[in-house]
Amino acid sequence: MEVIIQPSDESAAALVARIVAHDLRANPHLVLGLATGKTMERVYRQLVHFHKEQGLDFSLCRTFNLDEYVGLFPSDPHSYRHYMDQQLFRQVNIEPRNTHLPNGLATDLDDECRRYEALIQRFGGVDLQLLGIGRAGHIGFNEPLSALRSRTRVKALTPTTIRQNAPLFGGEERVPRRAITMGVGTIIEARRCVLLATGETKAEVVAQAVEGPITSMVTASALQLHPRCTVVVDEEAATRLKENDYYRWIFENEPEWEEYR
Ligand code: GLP
Repeated sequence: MEVIIQPSDESAAALVARIVAHDLRANPHLVLGLATGKTMERVYRQLVHFHKEQGLDFSLCRTFNLDEYVGLFPSDPHSYRHYMDQQLFRQVNIEPRNTHLPNGLATDLDDECRRYEALIQRFGGVDLQLLGIGRAGHIGFNEPLSALRSRTRVKALTPTTIRQNAPLFGGEERVPRRAITMGVGTIIEARRCVLLATGETKAEVVAQAVEGPITSMVTASALQLHPRCTVVVDEEAATRLKENDYYRWIFENEPEWEEYR
């Protein structure tokens, strides 16, 4: 795992967008794993900017989102399909048929989960997976005690996650109780993972995920098993990390990061 500390939430998101742009230019057929949430909005804004100002081309790219709520129509403003359409898909030249999210309205949800896994495999697996982190330390909707080898499945949301998402829905009682999510095992099979966390509310959980023990109580900690995972944080989200000096040295000195400095 590598940790990159950036001065602000804006520069942290910009760095993640530059990693995506770099990988997409290198491989126009990139299979891109996408995440939702407030933190990711800045990344998508930057990618839209790269598309409009620098011609970043999404026409051959395929995307797979981590998760979707059960029971929401794609047109529902709270669905992740709607979020993705608004934040990214409608603003760049991606083919709608190349964008995939689990279908939370499927009559057979287990079958839908199997279909989603098979589809990811059919396109050769995810090349670059973007991740946020929930306050419960989850990636996707892999709530505490999610098996570290879990695959795409239906997951019940914890009270913490429901509370975290309540303002977006206008009250806790309106938040769906379940979601389809890629499993932890699915996520860590991506060739590269990039997790973005910003703000002081994420500082404790970032420290647990990065420097704490690997545990299903904090599913983001499973990323420690991944051979190529980069965690990008701003100063506020970095405050509880112990090895900050080391992380800063890596970013300032390692050749891999030269073009990003
Ligand atoms: C939801 C999503 C996660 C995301 C998390 C953090 O739970 N399922 O994928 O990482 O929210 O969201 P935010 O960036 O708004 O803090």
